[in-house]
Amino acid sequence: MKSEELLNQFEEYLLNNLPSSNTFHPIFEKALQDMLTAGGKRFRPMLILSIVDAIEPLLTKNALPVALGVEYLHTYSLIHDDLPSMDNADLRRGHPTLHKTYDEVTAILVGDALNTHSFNLLANAPLSNDVKIELIKTLSSDGGIDGMIIGQAIDCYFENQKISLDKLEFLHIHKTAKLIAASLKMGAIISNLPYELQEKLYAFGIDIGLLFQIQDDIIDEVQSEVQAGKTTSNDSSKNSFVNLLGLDGAIKSANELSHKCNATLNNFGNNINENLNELLSKYLNRHLV
Ligand code: IPE
Ligand code: IPE
Ligand code: MG
Ligand code: MG
Ligand code: MG
Repeated sequence: MKSEELLNQFEEYLLNNLPSSNTFHPIFEKALQDMLTAGGKRFRPMLILSIVDAIEPLLTKNALPVALGVEYLHTYSLIHDDLPSMDNADLRRGHPTLHKTYDEVTAILVGDALNTHSFNLLANAPLSNDVKIELIKTLSSDGGIDGMIIGQAIDCYFENQKISLDKLEFLHIHKTAKLIAASLKMGAIISNLPYELQEKLYAFGIDIGLLFQIQDDIIDEVQSEVQAGKTTSNDSSKNSFVNLLGLDGAIKSANELSHKCNATLNNFGNNINENLNELLSKYLNRHLV
C-alpha cells in the first residue's frame, strides 16, 4: 500500500481513538487530545505500519492500536521535552505548547497519561498475548530507561558542558534512535519475522534514528519556527550535532549516514525495501537541508 494511504488509515484511526477522560474536569480531556490532533509527521507509527504492510498486509488493521500507542508515547515525550524545566519551548506542531495553553501541571499530567495509556493500547490490541508481551518489552525498554529517558536525562544534565563525540552518539542513539529502531522492530514482531531479521531492522533503525536527529539539529539551526512548526534556535546550550561538529560538519555526517542507510536498505527484501524507501526517501535523499 502507498505510504499516503497508510497514513490516512492511521490518521482516521487516531481520530476515532482519541484518549478520553469524561469527568467534571473542565479542560483535561481537551488537553489530552490537543497535541495528538495538532499534527506531526507520524514517522514512528508509519515505520511500524510500513513493515506490517510489507510482510503481513492482513495484519495492518490489527497493528493500528500498536502504531497509535507508539505515537502516544512519542507525543508524551515531546510534551515533557518542551516543559520549562527541560527545553522550555513555546511552540510544538504549529501550536502553543500545552504548558503555555494551560499550565505546567496539565502538561505534566497529560504526558503521564499518554505514556501509561500507550501500554494500555498495546495490551488491548487484537494480537496474540505472546506478540503483545514482546511489543511491551520493546517499547518499555527503548522508550524508557534503556532508551529515550536516559537520553533525555543526559541531554539535559550536560547542558553547557561539551561531551566527547562517542558520548554525543550515545546520547542521540538513546534519546531518539532507539524509539525509531523499536518501531521497525515492533513491525517485525507483529509480522512474525525471524529474530535475526528483527535485529537487522533494529540496527538499521538506529542509523536512521541518528540521521533523523542530526537533521533535527540542523533544522534547529536553519529553520524558522514557522517552517519547523516548533521553537527553533533553541539548542545553544545543548550537545547538538551542529554545536559539536558545526553546521557543515553536521551536514557532512548526515550525508555519510544517509549513504550507509541507502546501502543497507537495498539489502532488505523487495517489499520492505519498497515500503521503507517511500517513507524514508526525504531523509535518505537529504531533501531537507
Ligand atoms: C521530534 O520528533 C523530536 C525528535 C526526536 C527529534 P518528530 O520530528 O518526529 O516530531 P513530530 O512527531 O513530527 O511532531
Ligand atoms: C527531543 O529532542 C527528543 C525527545 C525524546 C522528545 P529535541 O529536544 O531536539 O526535539 P525538538 O527539537 O524539541 O523537537
Ligand atoms: Mg530536548
Ligand atoms: Mg526540544
Ligand atoms: Mg531538536
